[in-house]
Amino acid sequence: MNNEITGKPIDRVDGRLKITGGAQYAAEFPMKDLAYGVAITATIAKGHIASIDTRAAEKIPGVFGVLSYKNSMSLHFPQGGDPGSGKYAEKDLLPLQSDRIFYDGQMIAVAIADTFEKAEYAASLVAITYEPETAVLEIEPNASNARQPKTGLGNQPMQTKRGDASTALANAPVTIDYTYTTPVYHHNAMEPHATTAQWTGDELLIYDSTQSVYGSHSLMANMLGLEPEKVRLIALYIGGGFGSKGFSWPNTVVAAMASKLVGKPVQLALARQQMFTTAGRRSQTIQNVSLGADRDGKLLSIRHASIVETSFVDEFIEPCGVATTMLYACPNLEVTHKVVNLNRGTPCPMRAPGESVGTYALEAAMDELAVKLQMDPIALRLANYADEDPQKKKPFSSKNLRECYEQGAAAIGWKDRNVQPASMRQGRYLVGYGMATATYPANRSASTARAILFADGRAEIECCTQDIGTGTYTIMTQIAADALSLPITKVKVKLGDSDFPKGANSGGSQVSASVGPAIRAAAIDVVGKLAKLAVQDTGSPLHGLDEKTIQANNSGIYSSAEPQRGESFQALLSRLRLDRIDALATTNVSTRAPEAGQPEAIRNYSFHSWGAQFIRVLVDPDLYTVKIDKAVSVMDIGKVLNQKTATNQIMGGMIFGIGMALMESSVYDPARGRVVTRDLANYLVPVHADMPVFDIRFIDRPDVLISPIGARGIGEIGITGTAAAVANAIYHATGKRVRDLPISLEKLMD
Ligand code: MOS
Repeated sequence: MNNEITGKPIDRVDGRLKITGGAQYAAEFPMKDLAYGVAITATIAKGHIASIDTRAAEKIPGVFGVLSYKNSMSLHFPQGGDPGSGKYAEKDLLPLQSDRIFYDGQMIAVAIADTFEKAEYAASLVAITYEPETAVLEIEPNASNARQPKTGLGNQPMQTKRGDASTALANAPVTIDYTYTTPVYHHNAMEPHATTAQWTGDELLIYDSTQSVYGSHSLMANMLGLEPEKVRLIALYIGGGFGSKGFSWPNTVVAAMASKLVGKPVQLALARQQMFTTAGRRSQTIQNVSLGADRDGKLLSIRHASIVETSFVDEFIEPCGVATTMLYACPNLEVTHKVVNLNRGTPCPMRAPGESVGTYALEAAMDELAVKLQMDPIALRLANYADEDPQKKKPFSSKNLRECYEQGAAAIGWKDRNVQPASMRQGRYLVGYGMATATYPANRSASTARAILFADGRAEIECCTQDIGTGTYTIMTQIAADALSLPITKVKVKLGDSDFPKGANSGGSQVSASVGPAIRAAAIDVVGKLAKLAVQDTGSPLHGLDEKTIQANNSGIYSSAEPQRGESFQALLSRLRLDRIDALATTNVSTRAPEAGQPEAIRNYSFHSWGAQFIRVLVDPDLYTVKIDKAVSVMDIGKVLNQKTATNQIMGGMIFGIGMALMESSVYDPARGRVVTRDLANYLVPVHADMPVFDIRFIDRPDVLISPIGARGIGEIGITGTAAAVANAIYHATGKRVRDLPISLEKLMD
């Protein structure tokens, strides 16, 4: 196997298709007789539907019907299958099954017509009356009654204890104890949640915008009571997910139900406003962090107590404190999570669920401790550097975080800053520097892929995993090209189709480390089959050699001892009159099921990625506007598979973090429980003009324990630490500590 293409900053293989509009998204498949659905959502936060009058809507020519609980088919309660077999986001609120309302914005009906405009008009004519009930709308007044959660995301422990954190805190010479709060955030992928569904007899074809083709496919079969073979689900291109498309939301199954009702294919895309209610969000959090240290900064106690909220129809717990259990060496620790049920749509994973808001609280608290100790924030982190996982008591597979701190500090000019807050100026602006640690687990799970080599020298790869916009097509092409020793132009990677072998879902930043090794293994198996054929073939220059001494090279197979001896794939296959050679490979490794028959390396090590985030801000001393001037990120994510896509991922993550710190916040009407910021004019996100100069670097040292390709995931770690680094920089610039995100001008002025 060569290693020539992997790592290179090659352009996205699908870039041209996307730029030219050739890439088809879930609501972009033309079909004969396609009908359009427009969702109707509830306007009360709790209660019942009293009446639905669809007569006016149904009178419009071209309107095929209005689907609601009154005429919908019955859905099967989704049964939990194997992990990754799909999760319906609101298990106790299967869509359109009853008159119950659990939140404002809940999908309750769909108008279906021959054009989108008619469907939208028809939806406006559907008259709905309600019997409202008293709803629970706000977390703060209910925080004192928060309860123990039932489940953690992916079996993460929600309560963790080691040593005696309370006693150690009481006895610590230096302590801090503060509460940090974060608002509801919405994912706001560019492509909305969208589905096109088409029945042919009892067979169903679904184009879906999903982070889990395999999961969405098996879940749809499950909910609709169909054999999996009767359902095909396709997601060729996805315009972002950020976690909101990891679970399934009503649009997918409702499109299939609507299509059944009207006997035509139906396309159902959420409007941007509906993305704020019926497509997931990040939970609001109230996080109390107490730290105790000795006078040299050695941590004696860490306590991280979070209160989060979930809906009444499912339990998703934002795992705020999970990273706190392993980030620093400290003998005494207590991490807890409590939850409040609210009449809001259910929260779900959002880019680094837990770590993004959790590292904000912990890393801002570490900054506050550094100030109290009069210690450099980097020195404080080095004094508590965890050489092994302090909770699991296992070594890390690979950790080069010291180098991240060093390189980041040098790149931002850390040593030149005046430590005193509000002491530095550039022109009229206050200047501040802040830093924080980034961390995210390195996940890997089982995947299967097929590699096919054709007689004309081309190769294809098939796997039902998906590219949610991160560059999966591109890096998988690089991995396959290297394993087959072909130029990338000869390799076509096909993803996003449930007919292909089962590949990992795009959650937990796991696709590179899960699917990459499966594709590599399938490609190596193809080469092995070719070698076997060649050594047995008297016509081959490799005839009689030991097949184990033969390797792929330069679009062919060659003897590793005598590199000139060998032949091209094309020569071998055409002489043998073979159209193709293929191989199916499964790599059955899971970092999240470590004890169950896993390889020794997976059992014995703790797998995480690391990074250091550095931010330089300019703050206007009169208006308190904050400009992020420079953002430096140094990431230790194992081997970099493509410098360009990797840099994009970290930059995107940091932009998310900058949005968290300064702008993003979903505001709910406290009287009605309605999101009032439900468009991109009122839900502020950073735009180009808000962007700093980015300096993104990688340690680029392969993690040989996680997989032969050496890469750990990169999709989520970029957001972690970023909001804290921004908050810490603003404190340094102004001397003012805002512990309630977002850090808006009015809070800084206060
Ligand atoms: Mo990530 S929030 O697991 O898509």
